Amino acid sequence: MEKYKMHILVCGGTGCRASASEAIQNNLQDAIAAKGLEDEVQVVMTGCFGFCEKGPIVKILPDNTFYVEVKPEDAEELIEEHIIKGRKVMRLLYVDPENKEVISDSKHMGFYKKQIRIALRNCGFINPENVDEYIARDGYAALGKCLAEMTPQTVIDEIKESGLRGRGGGGFPTGLKWEFAAKNEADQKYVVCNADEGDPGAFMDRSILEGDPHSVLEAMAICGYTMGADKGLIYIRAEYPLAITRLKVAIKQAREYGLLGNDILGSGFNFDVEMRYGAGAFVCGEETALIHSMEGLRGEPTVKPPFPAESGYNGKPTNVNNVETFANIPVIINKGANWFNKIGSEKAKGTKVFALAGKINNVGLIEVPMGTTLREVIYEIGGGIKDGKKFKAVQTGGPSGGCLTEKHLDTPIDFDNLIAVGSMMGSGGMIVMDEDDCMVSMAKFYLEFTVEESCGKCTPCRIGNKRLHEILHKITLGEGTKEDLDLLRNLSTVIKDTSLCGLGQTSPNPVLSTLDNFYDEYISHVEDHKCAAGQCKALMQYVIDPELCVGCTLCSRNCPVDCISGERKEAHLIDTSKCIKCGACMEKCKFNAISIQ
Ligand SMILES: Cc1cc2nc3c(=O)[nH]c(=O)nc-3n(C[C@H](O)[C@H](O)[C@H](O)COP(=O)(O)O)c2cc1C
Ligand code: SF4
Ligand code: SF4
Ligand code: SF4
Ligand code: FES
Repeated sequence: MEKYKMHILVCGGTGCRASASEAIQNNLQDAIAAKGLEDEVQVVMTGCFGFCEKGPIVKILPDNTFYVEVKPEDAEELIEEHIIKGRKVMRLLYVDPENKEVISDSKHMGFYKKQIRIALRNCGFINPENVDEYIARDGYAALGKCLAEMTPQTVIDEIKESGLRGRGGGGFPTGLKWEFAAKNEADQKYVVCNADEGDPGAFMDRSILEGDPHSVLEAMAICGYTMGADKGLIYIRAEYPLAITRLKVAIKQAREYGLLGNDILGSGFNFDVEMRYGAGAFVCGEETALIHSMEGLRGEPTVKPPFPAESGYNGKPTNVNNVETFANIPVIINKGANWFNKIGSEKAKGTKVFALAGKINNVGLIEVPMGTTLREVIYEIGGGIKDGKKFKAVQTGGPSGGCLTEKHLDTPIDFDNLIAVGSMMGSGGMIVMDEDDCMVSMAKFYLEFTVEESCGKCTPCRIGNKRLHEILHKITLGEGTKEDLDLLRNLSTVIKDTSLCGLGQTSPNPVLSTLDNFYDEYISHVEDHKCAAGQCKALMQYVIDPELCVGCTLCSRNCPVDCISGERKEAHLIDTSKCIKCGACMEKCKFNAISIQ
């Protein structure tokens, strides 16, 4: 990067690419060529910057100017104004929604202020398809250090000392897991990277692989060195095409540089990585199901023990880690366990990446120190609730997690704290809900997902979740009873206690947490047959307020089933027995005379 005076970083994450960031890159390159600046300005396609809500993002170095919502047609102006005349293009800078201040350097934006980027350190900085750029930011230095200066046991000790716990959901101490795999003697061992990422709304692992694939390859090689494995496998869902492409490029480049393959860096250590593709089943993220899927068998979990560290892929000792867990490893080796374990909370060290989604202003990818509160994440980083609406709940941990409410906002986020309040960290999905979201429908949505994704091997999960879903559906139709609420709770407990794998053991969490935190809402569905959020169609009625209606007839002319009657200039009336609840009348009425009750 040194030889250029300026660098223009264009986000090449999936979100920004969907909004034409490739065309932005091409137009920038054309404009640079037209001005004869090819030797002075370099355009680099990077991974996700995190602030996907404001994408496509373009950042200019060395002055760190952060442009948001850039369009391909802005390219010429950026080159002419910023690069040639040294004037920032004000209309493309971020405006703080609170105080309307124009901010040009991302480090002063609320979205980034509280973030510490370890796993995401290179996302938005380097071209993920260029190994030299990874190397320029200490890439493969940790592998070199391990092979040249550390024994397998001292590497394991360093990881243990760092306090790193698995980011795939379980939070198991990573160093300890590596030690188990190292101690199991075998003629063949495997390192597996779990890149299945099946939680709805989650895109942490995808972004790491798209933005910094070498960090994962380097960590897998370090893991292989500690446990005596020479083969690495990355299990990735086929619906992540960009991450797959970038991993393939990274594997090829690492082999060419002697960083994968035989006799790595002249150390005598051999390690290579291959890809395995999943068809997108959530259960295949569970490590035993994942291993079966890689073996060409049905993606069904099996009882543990034996754990994969003892008998995993092809019956051999196998260490399975999540993408984000691996992405932390090179930094821990380079900067030391004591640097890492000073970040975070007492029981959870380091940072956690979250995919912020739902009714939040700043949808995107964030990385915060463990112990940051939900309030800080939602209000300071996430910028609060969309359209000034009221916060209602936040679902952490995806379908395995729970729904937390206002009273939990000051909970410091870590594995144990979230479990203590009835949710879990999971792999990092965080979906925010507002006053218009119905919690019964929300629980039903997650159960729909679980029923669909259950592998069907054990009865409590296969049948129990179906029954839970049926009861929830009944409640949303206004046909539920108070006894159904007790049934929901009892059945949930049985499913949790008796299911074979983590999917079934956690699937009732959305039901239990909403029963705990939003019991009144369930009661109003079953006793008053009302859905305050207006999401349960069967329970809502469109009503015309005769005081506000001026008899303009617009609603009756737009009703698709002709169920609105009334004379011109007189109050109109809806025949609720015929109304199909399409909402067309409410949308058309200019006098706010129609409401949902
Ligand atoms: C239903 C289910 C789905 C899972 N999905 C994932 C996943 O997508 N990615 C992941 O890393 N771990 C997932 N896990 C956890 C894995 O079984 C395993 O614990 C993890 O990959 C270990 O890596 P870690 O120690 O680095 O967290 C899932 C577990 C269950 C029960
Ligand atoms: S709990 Fe569900 S997903 Fe897990 S083995 Fe049983 S049926 Fe399959
Ligand atoms: S559109 Fe509104 S004001 Fe006009 S007749 Fe319908 S309810 Fe009344
Ligand atoms: S909601 Fe649709 S069907 Fe019902 S009264 Fe309005 S326009 Fe007619
Ligand atoms: S994809 Fe561009 S900022 Fe996330």
